[in-house]
Amino acid sequence: MSALLDRVPKQLYIAGKWRDSADGSRFEVRDPGTEQVLGEVADGQASDAGAAVDAAAGAQEEWAATAPRERGEILRRAWQLMTDRADSLAELMTLEMGKSLAESRAEVTYAAEFFRWFSEEAVRIDGRYTRSPAGGGGRTLVTRQPVGPCLLITPWNFPLAMGTRKIGPAVAAGCTMIVKPPQLTPLSMLNLAGLLAEAGLPDGVLNVVPSTSASRVVEPVLGDPRVRKLSFTGSTEVGRKLVGQCARHLQKMSMELGGNAPFLVFGDADLEAAVRGAVTAKMRNNGESCVAANRFHVHESVAAEFTRRLTERMAAMKTGHGTEDGVEVGPLVDGGQRDKVVKLVEDAVSRGAIAEAGGKPLSGKGFFYPPTVLSGVPPEARILREEVFGPVAPVTTFADEDEAVRLANDTEFGLVGYLFTSDLDRAIRVGERLQTGMAGINTGLVSNAAAPFGGIKASGFGREGGAEGIDEYLEVKYLALAVNAP
Ligand code: SIN
Repeated sequence: MSALLDRVPKQLYIAGKWRDSADGSRFEVRDPGTEQVLGEVADGQASDAGAAVDAAAGAQEEWAATAPRERGEILRRAWQLMTDRADSLAELMTLEMGKSLAESRAEVTYAAEFFRWFSEEAVRIDGRYTRSPAGGGGRTLVTRQPVGPCLLITPWNFPLAMGTRKIGPAVAAGCTMIVKPPQLTPLSMLNLAGLLAEAGLPDGVLNVVPSTSASRVVEPVLGDPRVRKLSFTGSTEVGRKLVGQCARHLQKMSMELGGNAPFLVFGDADLEAAVRGAVTAKMRNNGESCVAANRFHVHESVAAEFTRRLTERMAAMKTGHGTEDGVEVGPLVDGGQRDKVVKLVEDAVSRGAIAEAGGKPLSGKGFFYPPTVLSGVPPEARILREEVFGPVAPVTTFADEDEAVRLANDTEFGLVGYLFTSDLDRAIRVGERLQTGMAGINTGLVSNAAAPFGGIKASGFGREGGAEGIDEYLEVKYLALAVNAP
């Protein structure tokens, strides 16, 4: 483990060079399972952010002019390197973020897949050529060009995948970038920067500036009109502030913000499949995901049986340090995250909910919270309105389809909803009525590099992944032609 940590770069990555921060300061990164220090990382200052913008802006023109195939091949090599090194990438992620090794391996595959997907999209940036409706030699040529230098702000919950799904399309489109990784889990991103350099990414295209102060890095970057795009994954609260910061230079934005995903189980659902889907939708990534099912609305005819089976599965999951054999549930990322889960569960129980499994944090070192199922959760419980970001499944009931849809949509968020039914008409009908950017029908997993991930309402705007993902990094350019032809 220490050899792995020794190999990981811990400096800023600017213009293809590893360097200390302007004032030489560093910050500690800790293992949330032991609370021990894993290493010290350079703490980016405002002038470092300025240097990163200079590097990205300086590299932009030449990078935009590279052949799309060349950009695609760099991404393909990066996919291969990630695949070859999956075990060490996963171990590093588990150490800094906490999730089990199995979860980290799944994330490495998911993360690498964004590079493979966008290596294939790089050569499919299309345009059109049309004759003017009025004729007389007028022609319209529409092409798409890279938007320019981008600021990519990534969260701690998926230290690699939330980076690759921004870096992949930016590289494919021909944009340069400044990445601000999370303070809690910067090591995976720094490691990835080294891997991308090995894959052949030219100096200055990717710059990484970790910092203990997001605003210290973000303000000078967004305050610079050469930066043309922001892609942010994080809370709605921070997203709202960043939207305001982009107003000055009218930078293009993608906002992947908070969620409050409903999980609907209808009376005609295959209950076994619904329970399996529920465990995936709730427990993937320790529940620390914006697409995690946040509340379970179950038809009253099957609620008792669904709760019994869900409780049995969740209670059997092994909690422990993510690197231990057989562990499925690692620690939460830090004390603040665990306190939030504790408070939301206490609030629900104080209002009459029953903890069928779990319900209390584990004592000792590390930020452990066991898989928890709450039944009889009353409508006024905060956990039904706020994103818990932890392994807690609150269950409530509904009487008919209209009530299920009303409950599902009764939130300011609109990222994803899940529904289980064996009636195809109902599946499509309810899927269409959900006010979300995505719906999982008889599945607890929607995340897929080949599909457009994103939300509506307070969950943000813009799409990541799929054929749509590269559009966020391109601008439409129209050339009007006058030709000597009819
Ligand atoms: C997120 O939690 O922000 C994204 C989760 C995913 O891509 O599956």
